[in-house]
Amino acid sequence: MKAWRFHEFGSLDNLRLDEISSPEPGPGEVLLRVEFAALNPADAYLIIGKYPRAGTPPMSVGRDGCAIVEVPRVGGRFKKGDRVVILRSDIGVGRDGTLAQCIAAPEDCLAPLPEGWTSEEGAAAPLVFLTAWQALVEKGGVEAGQTVLVTGASGGVGTAAVTLGKAFNARVIALSRSAEKRDRLRALGADIVLDSSDPDLEQRAKDALHGGRVDLVVENLGGPFLQTSINLARERGRILVVGLLAGLTAEIILGTIIFKQIRIEGVQVGAYTPQGAQAVWSKIVRKLDEVRARPLIDQVFPLREVREAFAYLAAGAMGKVLVDMRGQ
Ligand SMILES: NC(=O)c1ccc[n+]([C@@H]2O[C@H](COP(=O)([O-])OP(=O)(O)OC[C@H]3O[C@@H](n4cnc5c(N)ncnc54)[C@H](OP(=O)(O)O)[C@@H]3O)[C@@H](O)[C@H]2O)c1
Repeated sequence: MKAWRFHEFGSLDNLRLDEISSPEPGPGEVLLRVEFAALNPADAYLIIGKYPRAGTPPMSVGRDGCAIVEVPRVGGRFKKGDRVVILRSDIGVGRDGTLAQCIAAPEDCLAPLPEGWTSEEGAAAPLVFLTAWQALVEKGGVEAGQTVLVTGASGGVGTAAVTLGKAFNARVIALSRSAEKRDRLRALGADIVLDSSDPDLEQRAKDALHGGRVDLVVENLGGPFLQTSINLARERGRILVVGLLAGLTAEIILGTIIFKQIRIEGVQVGAYTPQGAQAVWSKIVRKLDEVRARPLIDQVFPLREVREAFAYLAAGAMGKVLVDMRGQ
């Protein structure tokens, strides 16, 4: 079988399409034939050596995806041929990930492909929807009628947060640098869309809020955006820090946090236990079914174009970027 593996840390150029034998599933594991792998920015951080935890090269990255059970576990939940989605686990972090045609996976990190979903939709949803749910629902306590600001809204986590925010009947403000993607965010349900590269972003947001402020922020960008988020938050507002695409560090005015009693909290999808991820995933699928929504897929790249797929993701996708692992 084929597997995209990096052979040393440092650069995406270290990725090679290797021909290797299929892994042997360990106790409690099944063997999966991966159909579609989802890319996440953290995969690139891991390869270049900027992720806090990683397995030993050569290894494949890819944290989530959709797959077919090839060798089930004796007495297990799945049978040969079942389609499953891979929830957040050690896959693609400490052990081989979904950018391989066959992987061994603990059964407890798998869920059946939701009824009526395509394999592509199943691959696109797990990591970003679990993250958006932890931010908005578990840590943010989102309620109908609240105002939610989503920075980096066009990305995987961003589109998931917009979709979930609308599913909870919140008013959603979505940021993107691209006019075309702002139109698509509006079509996804965002109530207000703003240009994140506008130097007057904060004033434009305040004007759009007619003097109001936001209850929650899903902060995917970090860097200088964090202070803008703090300025736009209401008293006792919450900022859920998910990502750091615009900067690993941020200079912030502590006085504003003190006076407004803002709560800034980190989101960590990797903190879910397998049981926790399963329980939350069921709620996500129910919620999406309730509002007839599905994960948004931007582009599916063929197996051989993984480097192009990573470059496309880094340039700013609209939803998820997938790799079709079924090719030659
Ligand atoms: N904490 C966790 O557990 C967790 C889980 C998943 C992801 N993350 C992190 O969350 C962040 C978002 O992930 P994602 O999967 O949504 O990423 P993504 O799909 O790459 O999308 C992020 C979006 O942010 C915008 N963007 C990127 N760089 C920017 C910059 N320098 N300035 C302004 N906007 C920029 C782009 O939108 P426009 O081009 O439209 O502006 C891009 O489409 C990443 O840092 C990721 O590592 C964290």
